Amino acid sequence: MTNHADPIVVVDGLFKQYGKVTAVNNLSFIVYPGETFGLLGPNGAGKTTTLGIISGLIRPDNGDVTVGGFSVTKDTQKAQRLLGVVPQGLALYEDLTARQNLTYFARLRGLHQAEIKRQIAQVLEITGLEDAVDQKVRKYSGGMKRRLNIAIGLLGNPKVLLLDEPTVGIDPQARRHILDAVRRLADNGMTIIYTSHYMEEVEYLCERVSIMDHGLIIAQGPLYEVRALAGDSVVLRVPATDELLNDPEALDRLKKALPAPLEPSHAELRIILTKGSEQAPEILNILVEHQVSLNGMQIEAPNLETVFLSLTGKALRDNGSEASAS
Ligand SMILES: Nc1ncnc2c1ncn2[C@@H]1O[C@H](COP(=O)(O)OP(=O)(O)OP(=O)(O)O)[C@@H](O)[C@H]1O
Ligand SMILES: [Mg+2]
Repeated sequence: MTNHADPIVVVDGLFKQYGKVTAVNNLSFIVYPGETFGLLGPNGAGKTTTLGIISGLIRPDNGDVTVGGFSVTKDTQKAQRLLGVVPQGLALYEDLTARQNLTYFARLRGLHQAEIKRQIAQVLEITGLEDAVDQKVRKYSGGMKRRLNIAIGLLGNPKVLLLDEPTVGIDPQARRHILDAVRRLADNGMTIIYTSHYMEEVEYLCERVSIMDHGLIIAQGPLYEVRALAGDSVVLRVPATDELLNDPEALDRLKKALPAPLEPSHAELRIILTKGSEQAPEILNILVEHQVSLNGMQIEAPNLETVFLSLTGKALRDNGSEASAS
């Protein structure tokens, strides 16, 4: 926490309740200028609510956020002037062209005519949409719509960009395109708050992260520190035809016998060594007892997925579904 300038975003003790659901529960974090901060969590964790509060669109029940020193609840407009927001849902007019959409949102942002032209050219270049700018958005692919959504958020050259799951529902190539564009923005000094339930994206982009679940922060800090909260995992390759993978009851028995979290997928069993590699022999013995057939095994360093699994006992990926693999 040394050698830093003053934080540009301070999130301080946020609470937000919807009926019986506590969407955000005592959330605090800070973001430094030029940093890409990751907010990672499964469906319903409270990511969108948090970004909504930071952008001044949702009032917290308690706590506050400052952006560039301006309170989002008291000095909302001044704070908002520093922010660019890319919402999770697409906010686009399908019957207009991309250029018409951009012009419309640029005027809403209060930009002048000459500035509008210049900025549209700039955000098109960043998002790689130059060639499609005069097509109606209706004809755009999902990935192009996502990119236009980002382009709109970039109008006005915000100091802080809030990105809410900007790669959901698009193919890997389009996803790559977006991640690279975000990376370039960060390299050019923009401060970014990036939410996702894809740990690979957050690992790729972010220096510091918060992992949320049910409105609460369950882990927070520099990426390398948060990763270190989980142990290495042993990844065991089992034959895809192995009965174990297709037998929920047998899997359940194995899970109960193991002293560490297990995540089955495809032809793989991942077991997190919560107590370090000295746990490996014990685990192998249990696997032999349960007649698990093995094709191979390797040790993998922890990542955000295994951190989430070891802290919550459930998998983060695939829409954060809590359903078992059966
Ligand atoms: N306007 C609302 N009214 C009632 N409940 C809400 C409202 N907005 C959010 N919630 C609830 O608050 C919790 C957090 O929702 P939120 O949308 O912030 O999560 P999220 O992390 O963005 O999830 P996702 O990954 O699905 O977008 C959820 O349980 C959700 O159902
Ligand atoms: Mg959301």
